[in-house]
Amino acid sequence: MTTLYSRVKKLTDMDNDLPMPISEKHPHGGRMFPFRWLTRRTIRAIVFCCTFLAILACLRIFVTLSGPETREEDVKPDPQFPPLYSKQHQDELAYPQHNLDLPFPEGRDGKYIWMANHVHGSGWGNAMQELVLNSYLAYKSGRSFVFDNYTWNRDGSDYTDYDGKLIPSRIPLAALMTGPTAGGPFPDGDPAPRSVTKEYWDIVCPNPRVIDSYEVTDHLNQEASALELLEAWVQKLDEVGDRCVEISRESLQLFGIWVFGSERVLDIFPGLAKSPIIKNFGWSPLVHAAFDVNRHLFSPTPKLETYLPSLFGSSDPYSALPGLLVLHIRRGDFGNHCHHLAKWASRWNGFNTFPELPDKFEPHPGGGGGEASEEAVQYTLEHCFPTVTQIVEKVHKVRNSTAGKGLKNVYIMTNAPKSWILQLKYGLNKIADWDHIASSRDLKLTWDQKYIAQSVDMMIGQRAQVLIGNGFSSLTSNIVMLRMAKGLPPDSNRFW
Ligand SMILES: *[C@@H]1O[C@H](CO)[C@@H](O)[C@H](O)[C@H]1NC(C)=O
Ligand SMILES: *[C@@H]1O[C@H](CO)[C@@H](O)[C@H](O)[C@H]1NC(C)=O
Repeated sequence: MTTLYSRVKKLTDMDNDLPMPISEKHPHGGRMFPFRWLTRRTIRAIVFCCTFLAILACLRIFVTLSGPETREEDVKPDPQFPPLYSKQHQDELAYPQHNLDLPFPEGRDGKYIWMANHVHGSGWGNAMQELVLNSYLAYKSGRSFVFDNYTWNRDGSDYTDYDGKLIPSRIPLAALMTGPTAGGPFPDGDPAPRSVTKEYWDIVCPNPRVIDSYEVTDHLNQEASALELLEAWVQKLDEVGDRCVEISRESLQLFGIWVFGSERVLDIFPGLAKSPIIKNFGWSPLVHAAFDVNRHLFSPTPKLETYLPSLFGSSDPYSALPGLLVLHIRRGDFGNHCHHLAKWASRWNGFNTFPELPDKFEPHPGGGGGEASEEAVQYTLEHCFPTVTQIVEKVHKVRNSTAGKGLKNVYIMTNAPKSWILQLKYGLNKIADWDHIASSRDLKLTWDQKYIAQSVDMMIGQRAQVLIGNGFSSLTSNIVMLRMAKGLPPDSNRFW
């Protein structure tokens, strides 16, 4: 917010500095010869200036047309209002699968599933977990997945007050991600029907069969794993047979926090990781643009790659960047949350507990049932809300591990205040000679990118040589899931 205010301020200030009108600059210009100063040389200069300005204007138009489409938002006059991402939403509505006349498996004969009970009011980490599994379920059952905006507030408003700050009530998926989940194509040869928007669902499925999730969960063990849930749902959807199925908005989530929050989620991974849902998952052009513009802060492009992009151009946009260490450190009110975790003897998020990962967490026996001893709190905080000293110690150890060879740049994903980040940078600089240390606060983001900054951080974490994340965080766990699916060395995923 502040940067935007200052930017807008700068623009207004510049207006006040506009050069004075020419006539005032020439107080001696008499009435008889108003253009006395118009010598041949000045005319030449003026012509030259005009040509130059015209070229500049052309360049500007060219840059606007070809450059990141969000540039204009940068100087949005009213910074109180978050972006609405209307362009991305328009793009979604225009996807080719939104056509009733297409032959089966899409069009008016296609089969669709709309999970009206999907989460809202959750952080992007939780929402993304559910989105991935829900769309994987649709894929496995041969139905078009109906996707919705990432929704903070379902009341139909554009903006929501969040701690005194306005945020968008919903963000179209196209602003966040790409891939089959968000309406992108499936790979050649895969006959799966493409995902469609909620708006199109309303047209293609005016009278859906509505089912409640208890119709499936009632027949399952309370501790059913993600794979068991998946198989039960695929079977149910086969039996139902209806072309249009809606999961009742009031019913429990298909894959809830108890599944994501435990090892029960792990057995779905081998199939999920090989599916186009994960293999073709990507970040939005908006996220990529933010990544590229800021890359020099955390992993400058090697010289050779800059000069010979054609040699490297086709390379994988999500490969690991050698030398990059990414730390995910949650501060702010997360401290209270960590106390809460200690009291309930919580475990790490499911995808942070792959057996191959070197760091494990067992809740302290002094916590549970809503209470925690001082030791249990301290123990949990160390893994959930580590101090600068604890962080620096861990980084020191990781640097000395096999996976940590050659680390030279650090990127800190964090919501910590600047002063705290300075202390951390100071501490990190004492243990090694880093080429670069940057944090989320150093990124230069456009107005549109500010509200999806978590995804920008996630893409940086996904590409780290080594990630040290927060085991309790769903954001970390999504990054770990993507890294594991990519086959990066398990010991390159570490936790506090
Ligand atoms: C999704 O969000 C856009 C605004 O970005 C809005 O125009 C549209 O109505 C929303 N769609 C649904 C189904 O809520
Ligand atoms: C670094 O690794 C070496 C060899 O594995 C070991 O001897 C040394 O104690 C390690 N240092 C730290 C600080 O962990």
